Amino acid sequence: MNPEPILKAEGVVRSYGERRVLKGVDLSLRPGEIYALLGHNGAGKTTLVRAICGRLRPDAGSVLLNGADPARVPAARAGLGLVPQEIALYANLSVRENIETFATLAGVPRAQIPAAVRRAMELTRTLDRAGAPVRTLSGGFQRRANIAAAIVHEPTLLILDEPTVGVDIDAREAVDTVIRDLRGLGVAVLIVTHDLDQAGALADRVGFLRDGAMVLEGDPRALVAEAFGDQMEILVHLAEGLDMAGEIHLAAEGLEPTRRPGVWTRLDSGGYGAAGRLDARLRQLGLAPREIRVRQPSLANLFSLVAERKAA
Ligand SMILES: Nc1ncnc2c1ncn2[C@@H]1O[C@H](COP(=O)(O)OP(=O)(O)OP(=O)(O)O)[C@@H](O)[C@H]1O
Ligand SMILES: [Mg+2]
Repeated sequence: MNPEPILKAEGVVRSYGERRVLKGVDLSLRPGEIYALLGHNGAGKTTLVRAICGRLRPDAGSVLLNGADPARVPAARAGLGLVPQEIALYANLSVRENIETFATLAGVPRAQIPAAVRRAMELTRTLDRAGAPVRTLSGGFQRRANIAAAIVHEPTLLILDEPTVGVDIDAREAVDTVIRDLRGLGVAVLIVTHDLDQAGALADRVGFLRDGAMVLEGDPRALVAEAFGDQMEILVHLAEGLDMAGEIHLAAEGLEPTRRPGVWTRLDSGGYGAAGRLDARLRQLGLAPREIRVRQPSLANLFSLVAERKAA
């Protein structure tokens, strides 16, 4: 049987003035589960996180953390670790001193602090620079130290708000490894992210929040398979500096621009054969692709689809 949820939020409603920012959101997390919360700017993600942390009381609905309301019961908050988007460490203190400080603030008994700090540094692989002032460390290392500070009191739920913004790929993989190790220890992890590649690779479940409502939730692979069936994504890389006529031709072939300059995309159930025909067609039009790739649709495709449904 599934273990009891660590977090159970039901029907959470919250307004700012006249505006309903959360319109009855349910969210539950079990031990050892990684959940990625996705959604455009302003969808309500941080508001939901603040309600889960007990920093904001919902107008309606309920939040239970380890069975208690975090807005009323301090012991419920003790089971929570929060890694904020901005690095929140003392720049002039060493990594060890920072984590010791957070351990004290979180109420770890004094005699247990050395062992707790060591464990947090081992888990986040920050031990080898334990004595270095935080300001001398790379951004990626600081982020891991920030996670160490959030887990020193052994929370059952760890929340990370945008853990990989402005972090290079090596540092991102290091953060992902830490998150996976925590899952292995039975910690429930809630990640708020715009990084769909990270979410797809890491999360056991994802949820799309749109305009304050959870519009889609589930195992990312299952959701993608269900939405796209046997369709594949065809990615076309073109030389940059395409003119308006070129863009019109591409649109007529069913291609849409991606966020990367010169890269266009289309879904097609014809797979490689369709990609070959598209290549020939574009060459005829004088738009010879530099590269064409065929790949499984990703969470990014699903995200666009969900966003479009709103427009429709
Ligand atoms: N304290 C506040 N007072 C008034 N409005 C607020 C307040 N906090 C947030 N909002 C509004 O609530 C909506 C949801 O904000 P929220 O910060 O939860 O979004 P988000 O999904 O975290 O966005 P982002 O991806 O940009 O961080 C936004 O329209 C925001 O302007
Ligand atoms: Mg936010």
